[in-house]
Amino acid sequence: MKSRLLFVFLLSLFSLGYAQEGQKYFPKQNLMKIGAYYYPEHWDESQWERDLHNMSELGLEFTHMGEFAWPFMEPEEGKFTFEWLDKAISLASENGLKIILCTPTPCPPAWLAEKHPEIFYQDSNYRPREHGSRGNYSTSSDLFREYTRKIVSQLAQRYGHDDRIWGWQLDNEPCAPMDYSPMAQAKFREWLRDKYKTIDAMNEAWGNRFWGVVYNDFEQIRIPLPRLLYGLSPHWQLDYYRFNADQMAAYLDFQTNILREYISDKQWVTTNYISTIIPADPRRTKKLDFVTYTMYPVGGGSNPGENGFRIGWQDGIAFANDFYRSINGVTGVMELQPGQVNWAPVNPMPQPGAVRMWLWHAFAGGCSFACTYRYRQPLYGSEQYHYGIVGTDGVTASPGGLEYSQMSKEMAQLRALYDPQAVVPAEYKAKKTAILWSHDNYWDIDIQKRTSEWSTWDHVFKYMEIVKSFGAPVDWIAEYSDFSQYPFLIVPAFQIIDEQIVNKWTKYAEQGGNLIISCRTGHKDHNGHLFETKWAEPMYELIGAKIEFYDLLPGNIKGQIGMDGRKYEWHVWGEILEPHKNSKTLAVYENQFYSGKAAAVTRNPGKGTVTYIGADTDDGALEKDILRKIYINAGVKINNYPPGIYVEWRDGFWTAVNYSGRSFNLDIPDNAKILFGEKTLTSPGVTVWLEK
Ligand code: GAL
Repeated sequence: MKSRLLFVFLLSLFSLGYAQEGQKYFPKQNLMKIGAYYYPEHWDESQWERDLHNMSELGLEFTHMGEFAWPFMEPEEGKFTFEWLDKAISLASENGLKIILCTPTPCPPAWLAEKHPEIFYQDSNYRPREHGSRGNYSTSSDLFREYTRKIVSQLAQRYGHDDRIWGWQLDNEPCAPMDYSPMAQAKFREWLRDKYKTIDAMNEAWGNRFWGVVYNDFEQIRIPLPRLLYGLSPHWQLDYYRFNADQMAAYLDFQTNILREYISDKQWVTTNYISTIIPADPRRTKKLDFVTYTMYPVGGGSNPGENGFRIGWQDGIAFANDFYRSINGVTGVMELQPGQVNWAPVNPMPQPGAVRMWLWHAFAGGCSFACTYRYRQPLYGSEQYHYGIVGTDGVTASPGGLEYSQMSKEMAQLRALYDPQAVVPAEYKAKKTAILWSHDNYWDIDIQKRTSEWSTWDHVFKYMEIVKSFGAPVDWIAEYSDFSQYPFLIVPAFQIIDEQIVNKWTKYAEQGGNLIISCRTGHKDHNGHLFETKWAEPMYELIGAKIEFYDLLPGNIKGQIGMDGRKYEWHVWGEILEPHKNSKTLAVYENQFYSGKAAAVTRNPGKGTVTYIGADTDDGALEKDILRKIYINAGVKINNYPPGIYVEWRDGFWTAVNYSGRSFNLDIPDNAKILFGEKTLTSPGVTVWLEK
C-alpha cells in the first residue's frame, strides 16, 4: 500500500512536468513588466537606435527579437551571422530594455526548403507546405530537428550567458497543425508501438472488431483522415490527437534541452500558446519554465453590448490568465493586441481605453509581463495593416501605443506601493475555485459531439463566468493536481473518467470540498469506450443519482426546467436523473415526455457536498442559481457582478475591469485607497484600489 502511495506521489510530481520554479525569475515587487516586439531585420539599421530609444522613452521595459529571423542568422547553410543581432541587443540594452530572444524555427530559410522540401508538414489533402510563410515545418521531421539543433545551439552558445537576455521564447504560437506527412505517419506508428506494445492491445483499445478494421501489424496503420473515410473509430482519432499534441510538445522540449545545455539558469525558457489552443496542449510540454499566451480581444467577433466589438472578447484574458498561470504558478501575455489587427473578417479600432483595460486585466490575473506584437507597424509584408505601438512613420505613438505607455507609468506608481507583507484577503481565499480541465475530454467530445449545438468552450466558460461573477479566484487544474486547497471544485463535461478520479473526487467531497459536476461527465474510459455498466454508472454513487438517459433538442425547441418557482430554458444537453435515497432534487424538467424528472441533484457526503447539474441551460441561469446556493451554504461571501465585470486581488492590489459596455458601481469600502479610476467603473475602464 505504502509503495503504491509513493508511486502515486512520484507520478504526480512527474506529471506536473514543469520545474515549478518559474516564480524565481520574476521578483514579486516588479509586478508586471511591459514590453513590445521589435524586428531589427525589418528596418534600416540607422533607425534602430532611435526606435529602441523611443520605446524606452514611452516607458517600455523590454523588447522581443529574433522570432522569424532564421535567414538573417544563417543566410546560407552553416554560415552564421549574428553581428546585426549583437548590435540590436546592445542598443536595446543601452536604452534600458531587457531582451526576450526567440528561436527562429517557425521560418525555415529558403535554402533549407530548396535542399530539403521534405521537412514540411502535409495537410489533409497530402499537400506539403512549402517555403513562403511560417509555421510550415513538420514536428515529426528528424531532419528538421537537426537543423533546429544547429541554429538553436548557435544562439544558445552566443547569448546563453549574456545578462542582457532576460529569457527565451521558443518558436511562435506552437499550434500543432494536423500533419499527414510520411514522417508523421511513421512517428504515429512509433508512438502507438510504444503505447500499446502489441498490435492486439491496440486493436482492443480502438475497438477494431467494429466494421472489420483489424490490423495485423503496426506498419499497416495510418493517420485517421475523416475527409476520406466515413465513421472513423473515435478511439483511433483520439489517439491521433494525443500523438499530435505530444509531437508538438516533444519538439518544444527538444529545443529547451538544447538551450539548457548552454544557457545560464538566470535565463528562463517559455513559449507563447494561442490562448484557447487546440490541438496543441500546453500541459504536455515538460521542460519549459512556464508557459505564456497570446491574445487579440478585438478580432471582429461579436461580444455583448453596443460597443462589445471594440471592447473585446470578455472571456479571453479572464480564461488565459487563470489557465496558463495555473500550469506553473507564473505566466505572461506574450502578445497583446496594440490596436487594429490585419487578419480578422472585420478589423475594428478598439474602443479608446480598451487596450489599457486589457493590460490591467492581464495584471489582475497574475501576469508577470505583458508584451505587444509589435512596436512598429510594418510597411510591407502580409501584416502591413497591423497596428503597432507606433504608426507608419515609425515615431508617432498610436492610440494603443499611448495606452501601453500610460500603463507602464501606472505600473511604476504601483510598484512604489507594493507591500511584500500583503496577504490574500480571507473572504477572497474562502471562495477559491478550481475548474478541472483535460484536453483529452475536449478532443473526445469534439470527435462525437452528439449535437451540433454543443460547444465545449461555451459550456466551460459558462461556469467560469459564474464563478467570476461571484468575485472568486479561479485556477484551472488537472487530474493530477492537489484538489485539497480549493473549497470549490467544478468539473465541467468531464467525459472520460476512471476509478482513480472518482475516488479522488469522493475523497475531496468527504473531506469538506464542494464538488460540482456538470453534464456529459463519466461516459467513457481512457480509450474512449463506454462502460459496460448502466449509462455512466461508475459515478452514480458519487453523484447520488442514476442517469436514466440524456436528451438533445434542436435549436428551435425549448426544454423547460423549474427550480424554486423559477423557470429556465435549455436545449443543448439535458440528462434525466433519478436521485438516490439520500440525495436531494434541486431542479426538475417541466416539459417533454420526462416532465417531473430531476435535472440536478445534490447530496452531502462526509463534510462536503456533491452536486450534479445534468442540464446545460441556454443562458446558464440555472447553473448560476445552483452554484450561488452552494457557495452561500458553504458560508462564503459572494459578489454578483454582471457579465463582463472582473474583480481580482493580486499582490495586495484590487483591480476591477469592465467589458460590459455600461458603468458599474463598485462596492469599495470607504477607507480603501483608490489608486486609479473611481468607484464608478466605466466601460472599458479600470479601477485599482488598496484596502486597509
Ligand atoms: C499572432 C502571431 C504574430 C502576428 C500576430 C498578428 O497570432 O503570433 O506573429 O502574426 O498574430 O496579429
